[in-house]
Amino acid sequence: MTFGSMPHSLDVHFLPELTAAEELAGGTVVVIDVLRASTTITYALAAGAREVIPCLEINEARHIAGRFPPEQVVLGGERGGLPIEGFQLGNSPAEYRSQVVRGKTVAFTTTNGTKALRACREARRVLIGSFVNAAAVCQALVGEERIHLVCAGTGKRITREDVLLAGLLMNRMISASPRFDYRQNDEAVIAGHAWHVVDWLLQGAIVGAVERDLEDILRTTEGGRNLEAVGLGSDIALAANIDRFDFVPELYVEAWSIRLPGGREAPVTQGGR
Ligand code: MLT
Repeated sequence: MTFGSMPHSLDVHFLPELTAAEELAGGTVVVIDVLRASTTITYALAAGAREVIPCLEINEARHIAGRFPPEQVVLGGERGGLPIEGFQLGNSPAEYRSQVVRGKTVAFTTTNGTKALRACREARRVLIGSFVNAAAVCQALVGEERIHLVCAGTGKRITREDVLLAGLLMNRMISASPRFDYRQNDEAVIAGHAWHVVDWLLQGAIVGAVERDLEDILRTTEGGRNLEAVGLGSDIALAANIDRFDFVPELYVEAWSIRLPGGREAPVTQGGR
């Protein structure tokens, strides 16, 4: 294989801290924080939130929320996995119900996910990826020339749940394309192999394995164990609901706002919980 002849590239980045902003400049980035920021953002938009504004700091989120009439905004996010004092919502997907967020702006801050988004500010497009919209993400990437899958990790440590999603996205793109001619970096190949093993586990092909489904597997990851430790293990099932939604939230960098693409309306059936 002669890499020089391949005009397209698909790179996985296990941590934003291992990636220079210039590396992502001009490319199409998918930000991945399976447990839970990217999953929760997707649930929020599915439930009809107008937009999600990612903020690095708690005070920044409060400040941004203060610019809106109180009935048009909610504060959401976590520190140490738990809801933040004075915020209406934590970072559990189940909290982002239509009755609470429909038509509203969510000023949102989480420990790692919002940092990963900031790291992508020079990209041409920034998409939000999770298991719950994996098929839609693959669809959105068709024809993109320079793709970066950026895993958020946790506290500068690589997390398996994010790497697994990167691997699933990559393997699906490869199977969907008869002539997949993207140059891949080593992290992409590692992620693809990691997802292959999970695929075998899910098909029952590994003797003695105790995990039966994606939820079981996510429970054994770093993010899964952290959630169990703070009593929020029930969020894992919602994050493992693969392909539940058919849209990809997009961060519009100039406006610094995450919305449904192309001014699309929130889906009523899927998100109207
Ligand atoms: C984060 O952004 O750090 C995560 O989403 C953490 C969490 O959900 O607890």
